[in-house]
Amino acid sequence: MKIAVAGTGYVGLVTGVVFADLGNEVICVDIDPSKVDAINKGQSPIYEPGLDELLQRNLEEGRLSATTDLAQATREAEVVFICVGTPPTETGEPSLAQVDAAAAAIGQALNGYKIVVNKSTVPVGTGDRVRRIIEQNRTAPYDFDVVSNPEFLREGSAVHDTLNPDRIVIGADNPRAAMKIVELYAPLERPMLITNLATAEIIKYASNTFLALKISFINAVADLCERTGADIVQVAKAMGYDPRIGSAFLQAGLGFGGSCFPKDVQAFAHTVQRYELDPTLFHQILAINDARPVQFVSRIRERLGGLSGRTIGLLGLAFKPNTDDIREARSLEVIRLLLHEGATVKAYDPVAMPRVQAIYPDLIYCRNAYEVAENADALALITEWNEFRQLNFERIRNAMRQPNLFDGRNLYDPQRMRKLGFYYYGVGRTAENGEFKTVL
Ligand code: UDX
Repeated sequence: MKIAVAGTGYVGLVTGVVFADLGNEVICVDIDPSKVDAINKGQSPIYEPGLDELLQRNLEEGRLSATTDLAQATREAEVVFICVGTPPTETGEPSLAQVDAAAAAIGQALNGYKIVVNKSTVPVGTGDRVRRIIEQNRTAPYDFDVVSNPEFLREGSAVHDTLNPDRIVIGADNPRAAMKIVELYAPLERPMLITNLATAEIIKYASNTFLALKISFINAVADLCERTGADIVQVAKAMGYDPRIGSAFLQAGLGFGGSCFPKDVQAFAHTVQRYELDPTLFHQILAINDARPVQFVSRIRERLGGLSGRTIGLLGLAFKPNTDDIREARSLEVIRLLLHEGATVKAYDPVAMPRVQAIYPDLIYCRNAYEVAENADALALITEWNEFRQLNFERIRNAMRQPNLFDGRNLYDPQRMRKLGFYYYGVGRTAENGEFKTVL
Protein backbone atom coordinates (compact mmCIF):
# COMPACT_ATOMS: atom_id res chain seq x y z
CA MET A 1 0.00 0.00 0.00
CA LYS A 2 1.16 3.58 -0.61
CA ILE A 3 1.14 5.51 2.63
CA ALA A 4 1.90 9.09 3.64
CA VAL A 5 2.58 9.91 7.29
CA ALA A 6 2.27 13.55 8.38
CA GLY A 7 4.47 14.25 11.41
CA THR A 8 7.71 12.48 12.34
CA GLY A 9 7.54 12.56 16.14
CA TYR A 10 7.55 9.34 18.14
CA VAL A 11 4.24 8.12 16.77
CA GLY A 12 4.66 9.23 13.16
CA LEU A 13 8.20 8.07 12.57
CA VAL A 14 7.79 4.72 14.29
CA THR A 15 4.49 4.09 12.47
CA GLY A 16 6.02 5.03 9.11
CA VAL A 17 9.10 2.88 9.60
CA VAL A 18 7.10 -0.14 10.80
CA PHE A 19 4.64 0.08 7.88
CA ALA A 20 7.60 0.30 5.49
CA ASP A 21 9.09 -2.77 7.14
CA LEU A 22 5.83 -4.61 6.52
CA GLY A 23 6.38 -4.02 2.80
CA ASN A 24 4.44 -0.80 2.18
CA GLU A 25 5.74 2.26 0.34
CA VAL A 26 5.90 5.04 2.92
CA ILE A 27 6.56 8.76 2.63
CA CYS A 28 7.18 10.48 5.96
CA VAL A 29 6.38 14.18 6.03
CA ASP A 30 7.52 16.88 8.42
CA ILE A 31 7.51 20.66 8.22
CA ASP A 32 10.98 20.69 9.80
CA PRO A 33 13.56 20.25 6.98
CA SER A 34 16.32 19.25 9.43
CA LYS A 35 14.25 16.25 10.59
CA VAL A 36 13.51 15.30 6.99
CA ASP A 37 17.22 15.49 6.11
CA ALA A 38 18.17 13.38 9.12
CA ILE A 39 15.59 10.72 8.24
CA ASN A 40 16.74 10.59 4.60
CA LYS A 41 20.30 10.06 5.90
CA GLY A 42 19.14 7.18 8.08
CA GLN A 43 19.46 9.09 11.34
CA SER A 44 16.40 9.04 13.54
CA PRO A 45 15.73 12.47 15.11
CA ILE A 46 14.55 10.65 18.26
CA TYR A 47 16.26 8.09 20.48
CA GLU A 48 14.32 4.86 20.33
CA PRO A 49 15.79 1.35 20.62
CA GLY A 50 15.83 -0.47 17.27
CA LEU A 51 14.57 2.49 15.25
CA ASP A 52 17.82 3.45 13.49
CA GLU A 53 18.38 -0.07 12.15
CA LEU A 54 14.82 -0.34 10.88
CA LEU A 55 14.99 3.14 9.36
CA GLN A 56 18.25 2.43 7.54
CA ARG A 57 17.09 -0.94 6.21
CA ASN A 58 13.89 0.46 4.75
CA LEU A 59 15.63 3.51 3.26
CA GLU A 60 18.19 1.24 1.58
CA GLU A 61 15.49 -1.04 0.25
CA GLY A 62 13.64 1.97 -1.15
CA ARG A 63 10.39 1.58 0.75
CA LEU A 64 10.81 4.70 2.86
CA SER A 65 11.53 8.36 2.13
CA ALA A 66 10.97 11.70 3.81
CA THR A 67 9.84 15.07 2.50
CA THR A 68 8.48 18.42 3.64
CA ASP A 69 5.86 18.34 0.90
CA LEU A 70 2.60 17.00 2.38
CA ALA A 71 0.62 17.87 -0.76
CA GLN A 72 2.83 15.75 -3.00
CA ALA A 73 2.90 12.89 -0.48
CA THR A 74 -0.91 12.99 -0.26
CA ARG A 75 -1.31 12.89 -4.04
CA GLU A 76 0.84 9.78 -4.21
CA ALA A 77 -0.74 7.94 -1.26
CA GLU A 78 -3.87 5.83 -0.80
CA VAL A 79 -3.80 6.24 2.96
CA VAL A 80 -2.64 9.38 4.78
CA PHE A 81 -1.86 9.18 8.49
CA ILE A 82 -2.04 12.32 10.63
CA CYS A 83 0.51 11.93 13.44
CA VAL A 84 1.20 15.57 14.29
CA GLY A 85 1.54 16.99 17.79
CA THR A 86 -1.39 18.14 19.91
CA PRO A 87 0.46 20.08 22.63
CA PRO A 88 -1.59 21.45 25.51
CA THR A 89 -2.67 25.08 25.34
CA GLU A 90 -2.65 27.36 28.38
CA THR A 91 -6.01 25.99 29.50
CA GLY A 92 -4.78 22.40 29.28
CA GLU A 93 -6.90 21.64 26.24
CA PRO A 94 -4.92 20.13 23.36
CA SER A 95 -4.12 22.47 20.51
CA LEU A 96 -5.54 21.16 17.27
CA ALA A 97 -3.67 23.71 15.13
CA GLN A 98 -1.31 21.16 13.59
CA VAL A 99 -4.13 18.67 12.97
CA ASP A 100 -6.19 21.39 11.28
CA ALA A 101 -3.24 22.47 9.13
CA ALA A 102 -2.55 18.89 8.05
CA ALA A 103 -6.24 18.30 7.27
CA ALA A 104 -6.38 21.50 5.18
CA ALA A 105 -3.25 20.53 3.22
CA ILE A 106 -4.61 17.02 2.63
CA GLY A 107 -7.94 18.49 1.50
CA GLN A 108 -6.29 20.80 -1.02
CA ALA A 109 -4.18 17.95 -2.41
CA LEU A 110 -7.01 15.40 -2.80
CA ASN A 111 -6.87 13.91 -6.28
CA GLY A 112 -8.99 10.78 -5.79
CA TYR A 113 -10.36 8.54 -3.01
CA LYS A 114 -8.14 8.59 0.11
CA ILE A 115 -8.41 7.32 3.63
CA VAL A 116 -7.26 9.87 6.18
CA VAL A 117 -6.29 8.17 9.42
CA ASN A 118 -5.90 10.19 12.57
CA LYS A 119 -3.32 8.80 15.00
CA SER A 120 -2.68 12.02 16.93
CA THR A 121 -4.24 12.00 20.39
CA VAL A 122 -7.30 14.19 19.98
CA PRO A 123 -10.56 14.83 21.86
CA VAL A 124 -13.70 13.06 20.78
CA GLY A 125 -15.25 14.86 17.83
CA THR A 126 -11.95 15.66 16.10
CA GLY A 127 -12.54 13.06 13.37
CA ASP A 128 -15.67 14.97 12.35
CA ARG A 129 -13.71 18.21 12.46
CA VAL A 130 -11.01 16.76 10.18
CA ARG A 131 -13.73 15.60 7.78
CA ARG A 132 -15.25 19.11 7.64
CA ILE A 133 -11.86 20.77 7.06
CA ILE A 134 -11.04 18.39 4.21
CA GLU A 135 -14.46 19.01 2.64
CA GLN A 136 -13.95 22.76 2.88
CA ASN A 137 -10.51 22.58 1.28
CA ARG A 138 -10.88 20.03 -1.52
CA THR A 139 -10.81 21.50 -5.00
CA ALA A 140 -13.23 18.94 -6.49
CA PRO A 141 -15.74 16.56 -4.80
CA TYR A 142 -13.26 13.69 -4.48
CA ASP A 143 -14.40 11.02 -2.06
CA PHE A 144 -12.53 10.29 1.18
CA ASP A 145 -13.03 8.70 4.60
CA VAL A 146 -11.72 9.65 8.02
CA VAL A 147 -10.58 6.90 10.41
CA SER A 148 -9.43 7.12 14.02
CA ASN A 149 -6.61 4.70 14.83
CA PRO A 150 -5.15 5.64 18.22
CA GLU A 151 -1.62 4.67 19.14
CA PHE A 152 -0.72 3.10 22.46
CA LEU A 153 3.06 2.91 22.07
CA ARG A 154 5.33 3.69 24.98
CA GLU A 155 8.51 5.66 24.58
CA GLY A 156 11.55 3.43 24.93
CA SER A 157 9.72 0.45 23.46
CA ALA A 158 7.93 2.23 20.63
CA VAL A 159 9.11 -0.11 17.86
CA HIS A 160 8.28 -3.21 19.88
CA ASP A 161 4.88 -1.82 20.89
CA THR A 162 4.01 -0.90 17.30
CA LEU A 163 4.94 -4.36 16.06
CA ASN A 164 3.22 -6.12 18.98
CA PRO A 165 0.26 -3.96 20.03
CA ASP A 166 -2.11 -5.36 22.70
CA ARG A 167 -4.96 -4.29 20.44
CA ILE A 168 -5.51 -2.31 17.27
CA VAL A 169 -8.42 0.11 17.45
CA ILE A 170 -9.98 1.21 14.17
CA GLY A 171 -12.76 3.77 14.37
CA ALA A 172 -14.56 4.50 11.13
CA ASP A 173 -18.05 5.42 10.10
CA ASN A 174 -17.59 3.66 6.74
CA PRO A 175 -16.82 -0.11 6.78
CA ARG A 176 -14.98 0.14 3.45
CA ALA A 177 -12.36 2.41 5.04
CA ALA A 178 -12.13 0.25 8.16
CA MET A 179 -11.45 -2.87 6.06
CA LYS A 180 -8.59 -1.17 4.24
CA ILE A 181 -6.90 -0.34 7.56
CA VAL A 182 -7.56 -3.88 8.82
CA GLU A 183 -5.68 -5.10 5.72
CA LEU A 184 -2.76 -2.82 6.56
CA TYR A 185 -2.46 -4.23 10.08
CA ALA A 186 -3.28 -7.86 9.21
CA PRO A 187 0.39 -8.98 9.06
CA LEU A 188 0.80 -8.13 12.76
CA GLU A 189 -1.80 -10.78 13.67
CA ARG A 190 -3.03 -8.87 16.72
CA PRO A 191 -6.57 -8.39 18.10
CA MET A 192 -8.47 -5.69 16.22
CA LEU A 193 -11.48 -3.75 17.37
CA ILE A 194 -13.55 -2.02 14.72
CA THR A 195 -15.83 0.67 16.00
CA ASN A 196 -17.12 4.15 15.20
CA LEU A 197 -15.01 7.31 15.22
CA ALA A 198 -16.14 8.69 18.59
CA THR A 199 -15.62 5.37 20.37
CA ALA A 200 -12.07 5.02 19.06
CA GLU A 201 -11.26 8.57 20.14
CA ILE A 202 -12.53 7.94 23.67
CA ILE A 203 -10.72 4.58 23.96
CA LYS A 204 -7.37 6.34 23.74
CA TYR A 205 -8.03 8.89 26.47
CA ALA A 206 -9.89 6.46 28.71
CA SER A 207 -6.98 3.99 28.54
CA ASN A 208 -4.26 6.52 29.35
CA THR A 209 -6.34 8.17 32.07
CA PHE A 210 -7.03 4.80 33.69
CA LEU A 211 -3.31 3.97 33.77
CA ALA A 212 -2.58 7.37 35.31
CA LEU A 213 -5.36 6.70 37.82
CA LYS A 214 -3.70 3.45 38.86
CA ILE A 215 -0.44 5.30 39.51
CA SER A 216 -2.09 8.09 41.51
CA PHE A 217 -4.16 5.55 43.41
CA ILE A 218 -1.14 3.56 44.53
CA ASN A 219 0.69 6.77 45.44
CA ALA A 220 -2.25 7.88 47.61
CA VAL A 221 -2.15 4.50 49.35
CA ALA A 222 1.65 4.86 49.71
CA ASP A 223 1.11 7.97 51.84
CA LEU A 224 -1.15 5.99 54.14
CA CYS A 225 1.45 3.21 54.34
CA GLU A 226 4.08 5.69 55.55
CA ARG A 227 1.81 6.85 58.36
CA THR A 228 0.76 3.39 59.50
CA GLY A 229 3.87 1.24 59.32
CA ALA A 230 2.76 -0.63 56.19
CA ASP A 231 4.80 -1.33 53.05
CA ILE A 232 3.35 -0.17 49.71
CA VAL A 233 5.46 -2.59 47.68
CA GLN A 234 3.84 -5.56 49.40
CA VAL A 235 0.40 -3.95 49.31
CA ALA A 236 0.74 -3.44 45.53
CA LYS A 237 2.09 -6.93 45.01
CA ALA A 238 -0.80 -8.55 46.84
CA MET A 239 -3.34 -6.35 45.04
CA GLY A 240 -1.78 -7.22 41.70
CA TYR A 241 -2.36 -10.96 42.12
CA ASP A 242 -6.07 -10.27 41.73
CA PRO A 243 -6.50 -10.51 37.95
CA ARG A 244 -9.28 -7.93 38.11
CA ILE A 245 -6.70 -5.42 39.38
CA GLY A 246 -3.51 -6.62 37.66
CA SER A 247 0.03 -5.89 38.77
CA ALA A 248 0.99 -3.35 36.09
CA PHE A 249 1.20 0.36 36.83
CA LEU A 250 1.03 -0.05 40.57
CA GLN A 251 4.55 1.15 41.25
CA ALA A 252 4.51 3.88 43.85
CA GLY A 253 7.12 6.61 43.63
CA LEU A 254 7.57 10.06 42.20
CA GLY A 255 4.54 9.71 39.94
CA PHE A 256 4.07 9.94 36.21
CA GLY A 257 5.65 12.30 33.71
CA GLY A 258 6.14 12.18 29.97
CA SER A 259 4.40 13.64 26.98
CA CYS A 260 1.19 11.63 27.36
CA PHE A 261 -0.23 11.01 30.81
CA PRO A 262 -0.19 14.54 32.27
CA LYS A 263 -1.57 16.12 29.12
CA ASP A 264 -4.06 13.36 28.34
CA VAL A 265 -5.60 13.36 31.81
CA GLN A 266 -5.95 17.13 31.66
CA ALA A 267 -7.46 17.01 28.19
CA PHE A 268 -9.89 14.28 29.23
CA ALA A 269 -10.98 16.37 32.22
CA HIS A 270 -11.66 19.26 29.83
CA THR A 271 -13.71 17.09 27.50
CA VAL A 272 -15.76 15.75 30.41
CA GLN A 273 -16.37 19.31 31.57
CA ARG A 274 -17.29 20.48 28.08
CA TYR A 275 -20.09 17.92 28.10
CA GLU A 276 -21.21 19.26 31.50
CA LEU A 277 -20.05 16.24 33.49
CA ASP A 278 -18.08 16.25 36.74
CA PRO A 279 -14.27 16.20 36.18
CA THR A 280 -13.31 15.90 39.89
CA LEU A 281 -11.97 12.35 39.59
CA PHE A 282 -9.63 13.37 36.76
CA HIS A 283 -8.45 16.55 38.50
CA GLN A 284 -7.61 14.47 41.56
CA ILE A 285 -5.35 12.15 39.53
CA LEU A 286 -3.26 15.20 38.61
CA ALA A 287 -3.34 16.77 42.06
CA ILE A 288 -1.98 13.59 43.67
CA ASN A 289 0.71 13.36 41.00
CA ASP A 290 1.74 17.01 41.42
CA ALA A 291 2.25 16.49 45.14
CA ARG A 292 4.76 13.63 44.71
CA PRO A 293 7.99 15.60 44.18
CA VAL A 294 6.98 18.05 46.93
CA GLN A 295 6.60 15.22 49.43
CA PHE A 296 9.84 13.56 48.27
CA VAL A 297 11.85 16.75 48.75
CA SER A 298 10.22 17.24 52.16
CA ARG A 299 11.56 13.86 53.23
CA ILE A 300 15.07 14.91 52.22
CA ARG A 301 14.68 18.25 54.01
CA GLU A 302 13.42 16.59 57.21
CA ARG A 303 16.33 14.16 57.24
CA LEU A 304 19.00 16.81 56.61
CA GLY A 305 17.41 19.43 58.86
CA GLY A 306 17.14 21.87 55.95
CA LEU A 307 18.36 22.00 52.38
CA SER A 308 20.29 25.24 52.26
CA GLY A 309 23.98 24.58 51.65
CA ARG A 310 23.42 20.82 51.28
CA THR A 311 24.54 18.82 48.26
CA ILE A 312 21.96 16.51 46.76
CA GLY A 313 22.91 14.00 44.06
CA LEU A 314 20.30 12.88 41.55
CA LEU A 315 20.44 9.54 39.74
CA GLY A 316 18.41 9.72 36.54
CA LEU A 317 16.70 12.69 34.92
CA ALA A 318 14.61 11.27 32.04
CA PHE A 319 10.88 10.94 32.70
CA LYS A 320 11.40 7.17 32.70
CA PRO A 321 14.26 4.79 31.77
CA ASN A 322 15.39 4.12 28.18
CA THR A 323 14.53 7.53 26.81
CA ASP A 324 16.17 10.95 26.63
CA ASP A 325 12.75 12.59 26.94
CA ILE A 326 12.39 14.97 29.87
CA ARG A 327 8.91 16.30 29.14
CA GLU A 328 7.09 16.62 32.48
CA ALA A 329 9.94 14.64 34.05
CA ARG A 330 9.71 14.47 37.82
CA SER A 331 13.41 15.37 37.95
CA LEU A 332 12.66 18.92 36.76
CA GLU A 333 10.29 19.58 39.65
CA VAL A 334 12.66 17.98 42.18
CA ILE A 335 15.52 20.16 40.86
CA ARG A 336 13.36 23.30 40.99
CA LEU A 337 12.39 22.64 44.62
CA LEU A 338 15.94 21.81 45.70
CA LEU A 339 17.46 24.89 44.06
CA HIS A 340 14.70 27.09 45.46
CA GLU A 341 15.75 26.05 48.96
CA GLY A 342 19.42 26.71 48.35
CA ALA A 343 20.73 23.18 47.77
CA THR A 344 23.56 22.33 45.39
CA VAL A 345 22.40 19.74 42.86
CA LYS A 346 24.62 17.15 41.20
CA ALA A 347 23.14 14.86 38.56
CA TYR A 348 23.81 12.01 36.18
CA ASP A 349 21.62 10.44 33.50
CA PRO A 350 22.90 8.10 30.78
CA VAL A 351 21.23 10.08 27.93
CA ALA A 352 19.03 12.93 29.18
CA MET A 353 21.67 15.29 30.62
CA PRO A 354 22.01 17.63 27.61
CA ARG A 355 18.27 18.32 27.64
CA VAL A 356 18.23 19.15 31.35
CA GLN A 357 21.40 21.21 30.94
CA ALA A 358 19.52 23.44 28.48
CA ILE A 359 17.05 24.29 31.27
CA TYR A 360 19.36 24.14 34.31
CA PRO A 361 22.88 25.00 33.11
CA ASP A 362 24.20 25.46 36.64
CA LEU A 363 23.82 21.97 38.08
CA ILE A 364 26.94 19.86 38.54
CA TYR A 365 26.64 17.28 35.76
CA CYS A 366 28.58 14.08 36.41
CA ARG A 367 29.91 11.16 34.36
CA ASN A 368 28.46 8.39 36.52
CA ALA A 369 26.66 7.57 39.77
CA TYR A 370 29.92 7.48 41.77
CA GLU A 371 30.82 11.01 40.80
CA VAL A 372 27.32 12.12 41.83
CA ALA A 373 27.78 10.49 45.23
CA GLU A 374 31.06 12.30 45.97
CA ASN A 375 30.54 14.64 48.93
CA ALA A 376 26.75 14.44 48.63
CA ASP A 377 24.61 14.78 51.74
CA ALA A 378 21.90 12.73 50.08
CA LEU A 379 21.56 10.63 46.97
CA ALA A 380 18.13 10.52 45.31
CA LEU A 381 17.11 7.97 42.71
CA ILE A 382 14.75 9.70 40.27
CA THR A 383 14.72 7.42 37.21
CA GLU A 384 15.19 3.67 37.53
CA TRP A 385 17.71 3.10 34.73
CA ASN A 386 19.03 -0.48 34.72
CA GLU A 387 22.58 0.69 35.32
CA PHE A 388 21.54 1.98 38.76
CA ARG A 389 20.34 -1.46 39.89
CA GLN A 390 23.72 -3.03 40.52
CA LEU A 391 25.88 -0.17 41.74
CA ASN A 392 28.79 -0.74 44.10
CA PHE A 393 27.05 0.69 47.14
CA GLU A 394 30.08 0.41 49.44
CA ARG A 395 31.88 2.73 47.05
CA ILE A 396 28.86 5.04 46.92
CA ARG A 397 28.55 5.14 50.71
CA ASN A 398 32.25 5.86 51.21
CA ALA A 399 32.15 8.70 48.68
CA MET A 400 29.23 10.47 50.32
CA ARG A 401 29.44 13.10 53.02
CA GLN A 402 26.47 11.44 54.71
CA PRO A 403 25.06 8.09 53.54
CA ASN A 404 21.43 9.12 52.95
CA LEU A 405 19.63 7.29 50.17
CA PHE A 406 16.22 8.46 48.89
CA ASP A 407 14.70 5.98 46.52
CA GLY A 408 12.06 7.75 44.40
CA ARG A 409 11.19 4.56 42.51
CA ASN A 410 11.46 1.88 45.21
CA LEU A 411 14.23 0.22 43.24
CA TYR A 412 16.33 -1.00 46.14
CA ASP A 413 15.84 -3.48 48.96
CA PRO A 414 15.47 -1.38 52.13
CA GLN A 415 17.00 -4.04 54.38
CA ARG A 416 20.03 -4.48 52.18
CA MET A 417 20.60 -0.73 52.00
CA ARG A 418 20.29 -0.34 55.77
CA LYS A 419 22.73 -3.23 56.30
CA LEU A 420 25.16 -1.43 54.02
CA GLY A 421 25.00 1.52 56.39
CA PHE A 422 22.62 3.81 54.54
CA TYR A 423 19.75 5.77 55.93
CA TYR A 424 17.18 4.56 53.40
CA TYR A 425 13.87 6.16 52.42
CA GLY A 426 11.56 4.46 49.91
CA VAL A 427 8.19 5.94 48.92
CA GLY A 428 5.43 4.36 51.01
CA ARG A 429 7.91 2.15 52.85
CA THR A 430 8.10 2.94 56.54
CA ALA A 431 11.56 3.44 57.98
CA GLU A 432 12.88 0.50 60.03
CA ASN A 433 12.59 2.54 63.20
CA GLY A 434 9.01 3.41 62.31
CA GLU A 435 10.10 6.98 61.70
CA PHE A 436 7.21 7.96 59.43
CA LYS A 437 4.59 6.25 61.52
CA THR A 438 2.01 8.59 63.01
CA VAL A 439 0.57 7.53 66.34
CA LEU A 440 -3.00 8.76 66.64
C1 UDX B 1 2.18 6.09 28.03
C2 UDX B 1 1.31 4.84 27.81
O1 UDX B 1 1.87 3.72 28.51
C3 UDX B 1 1.18 4.54 26.33
O2 UDX B 1 0.30 3.44 26.15
C4 UDX B 1 0.63 5.78 25.65
O3 UDX B 1 0.49 5.58 24.27
C5 UDX B 1 1.52 6.98 25.91
O4 UDX B 1 1.65 7.17 27.31
P1 UDX B 1 4.80 6.62 28.09
O5 UDX B 1 4.41 8.02 28.42
O6 UDX B 1 5.84 6.39 27.04
O7 UDX B 1 3.50 5.79 27.59
O8 UDX B 1 5.34 5.95 29.41
P2 UDX B 1 4.92 4.85 30.48
O9 UDX B 1 5.88 3.74 30.41
O10 UDX B 1 3.49 4.50 30.37
O11 UDX B 1 5.21 5.65 31.84
C6 UDX B 1 4.57 6.89 32.12
C7 UDX B 1 5.02 7.47 33.43
O12 UDX B 1 4.42 6.77 34.53
C8 UDX B 1 6.53 7.42 33.71
O13 UDX B 1 6.93 8.66 34.25
C9 UDX B 1 6.70 6.30 34.73
O14 UDX B 1 7.80 6.51 35.56
C10 UDX B 1 5.39 6.42 35.50
N1 UDX B 1 4.95 5.17 36.15
C11 UDX B 1 4.61 4.09 35.38
C12 UDX B 1 4.84 5.09 37.54
O15 UDX B 1 5.11 6.06 38.25
N2 UDX B 1 4.37 3.93 38.10
C13 UDX B 1 4.02 2.85 37.38
O16 UDX B 1 3.61 1.84 37.97
C14 UDX B 1 4.16 2.92 35.97
